[in-house]
Amino acid sequence: MYQNLLSPITINKLEIRNRVVYPSLGLLYSYDGTLNDRYYEYFREKARGGTGLVTVGPVGIDFIGSGGIIPMLDSDDAIPGFKKMTSVIKEEGARAWIQLFHAGAYSYPMLLKGDAPIAPSAVYSRYSKAMPREMTIEDIEKVREAFVSAAARAQEAGFDGVEILGSGGYLITQFLSSIKNQRTDAYGGSFENRVRFPKEVIERTRERLGADFPLTIRMAGNDFVTGSNTDNETKEFAKVYEAAGVDAISVTGGWHETHVPQLPASLPQSGFAFLAYNIKKEVSVPVMASNRISSPETAEKLLKDGYADMVSIGRGLIADPHWVNKAMVGRSDEIRPCVACLQGCMDNVMTGQPVTCVANPLAGYEGERIIEKCKTPKNVMVVGAGLAGLEAAVTAATAGHSVDLYEKNDEIGGQLWVAGAPPHKGELFKFVRYYQAMLWKHNVSLHLNTRVDDRLIREKNPDFLIVAEGAEPLLPPIDGMDDPSVISAWDLLKEDRLLGDEVAIIGGGAVGLETALKVAAKGTITPEILHFLFTYEAESVERLRELMFQGTSNVTVFEMLPKVGKDVGKSTKWVLMSDLDKYGVAFTTEAKVVSIKNGLLTYEKDGKTHQQQFDHIINAAGSKSVKNIAEKIEKMNIPFAVIGDGAQPGKINHAVHGGFLAALEI
Ligand SMILES: Cc1cc2nc3c(=O)[nH]c(=O)nc-3n(C[C@H](O)[C@H](O)[C@H](O)COP(=O)(O)O)c2cc1C
Ligand code: SF4
Repeated sequence: MYQNLLSPITINKLEIRNRVVYPSLGLLYSYDGTLNDRYYEYFREKARGGTGLVTVGPVGIDFIGSGGIIPMLDSDDAIPGFKKMTSVIKEEGARAWIQLFHAGAYSYPMLLKGDAPIAPSAVYSRYSKAMPREMTIEDIEKVREAFVSAAARAQEAGFDGVEILGSGGYLITQFLSSIKNQRTDAYGGSFENRVRFPKEVIERTRERLGADFPLTIRMAGNDFVTGSNTDNETKEFAKVYEAAGVDAISVTGGWHETHVPQLPASLPQSGFAFLAYNIKKEVSVPVMASNRISSPETAEKLLKDGYADMVSIGRGLIADPHWVNKAMVGRSDEIRPCVACLQGCMDNVMTGQPVTCVANPLAGYEGERIIEKCKTPKNVMVVGAGLAGLEAAVTAATAGHSVDLYEKNDEIGGQLWVAGAPPHKGELFKFVRYYQAMLWKHNVSLHLNTRVDDRLIREKNPDFLIVAEGAEPLLPPIDGMDDPSVISAWDLLKEDRLLGDEVAIIGGGAVGLETALKVAAKGTITPEILHFLFTYEAESVERLRELMFQGTSNVTVFEMLPKVGKDVGKSTKWVLMSDLDKYGVAFTTEAKVVSIKNGLLTYEKDGKTHQQQFDHIINAAGSKSVKNIAEKIEKMNIPFAVIGDGAQPGKINHAVHGGFLAALEI
């Protein structure tokens, strides 16, 4: 099983126990440039879970390149903290790597104490919203030396290998790209000149570290930025890097500024592995593939297909650091899934908060949230097998309690069946697979098709009751919500149905927008049909694009606020909005729907009353908690907790973390 994935590999002369790499990933567990226990415990878990190579990073090499907000290795004083980190990782049998980081123009000016970021040229950065200062030759030499010195400190701290960050749109990619590098000296212009800076960094670092010390680079396989480097140039960069002395190359996607999504679920599993292969063909050192490689099956196939030699798994190992150990014993169904939501990781970082994971309540809390085995097991009754109830049941059972889980429907998952229905949201169904496996593993007694009432609770008389009744659609105060044209978004998402040419959605929050996308995509061609038509050149590219995005209904979203998507995270919102735009979804904002009659929708906007005729009107105006049991429980004299949407409608985080924490309190 997973023969390729779990077989060892050698980088330079160093053997690594398997092909799984945890890549560098900004965590924000401190803001003062130091490591702390939160970092140590996070990385201990990554190594303990069986990962072959664990990268600590991003690590700053100087102040101007990071603003000191990430762990810094810019002075010898930092070495002891990193020494501790390398022993934490190595004690668990993993190889400890470090990624050396310089953001260049991507440094945030607000962190730089009044200095401007530095970059090859003074080209405005949309990412940091800053105009950088053009680097002088002295700056270039200084930064090059900072890379080399930090690498030497990393070696002293006991790291097994050093990775230079040459991807993501950061400093090195800025040197490589003619849209960011407009220099006319030896570091700009021709291919040789643009690649000179990373080449020198590699050569000098190699010189300092010695021939046998593993040195690697992370690079963009394609910048995915108009006018910048593509697959054609990147393979040439890789050859230069190999000749300059790297022992392995990690290939990722593009930049922060790209129009091609790098992380959300719309990027198919292993969707950028082709970029790794493009490099692998050109070099003889091991190549790592990256982005959305979530399951051992995907990883194994990718290796078997010869795309890469190793796989980089970032968020998959946040969601479950024991990914490798579970794969090793053939229990990949017990791997907690990363659902590519970005809510706990990238959304947090983008708002300056530490990385957590909506799916894994322990991520980022490794030293703090501990499931202790209980001394006196209790009979625990959990009502509702949605996300919150499932997590509570599994956690309580893991702690040693005897758990009965009740669900009124004939399957577990609750609202996941609604939430997972829109395009690119199907990853959520992985939760069902995971919890099914965990209920089984921890002997939770599952009672499907069982509606719980106070009589059943009295009869079972549990020691502890967890109520996770979920939510139901909210009916907004609009005249005519019983009009035959009105459908609930939840009903539509649960079960597809025929819709007319003109469809309105009431509510421009996450559910409304995702429903809009689903409706707008109805009747468009499937990926298989597109593949077929493209293969045989049956239709022109323009016509194919039309068939991909023109469905059978026109969709208009009505929202009271000035903007739609208020509850959609920053890192996925632009992707959702761009998709809605491609499907031609229209928005009427600052509009208050007042009545519906035979599909005629009346709304107020700008102090005037307007009317528009629709075939169907979908209500996505929010949800409210179901409190059938919650309202009665206080009188029953049974210790209890009300969790998830049943306490208050919320996101995945609220359900999973709430369920977990409630179970710890039993
Ligand atoms: C919150 C966050 C921070 C990241 N920071 C870095 C970074 O500093 N350096 C880097 O090379 N990649 C960084 N990445 C990219 C990841 O290493 C990885 O390539 C990406 O998440 C895609 O892989 P995955 O789908 O396995 O998560 C970051 C990703 C996330 C989600
Ligand atoms: S927060 Fe979402 S995207 Fe990030 S690791 Fe967890 S499940 Fe994956």
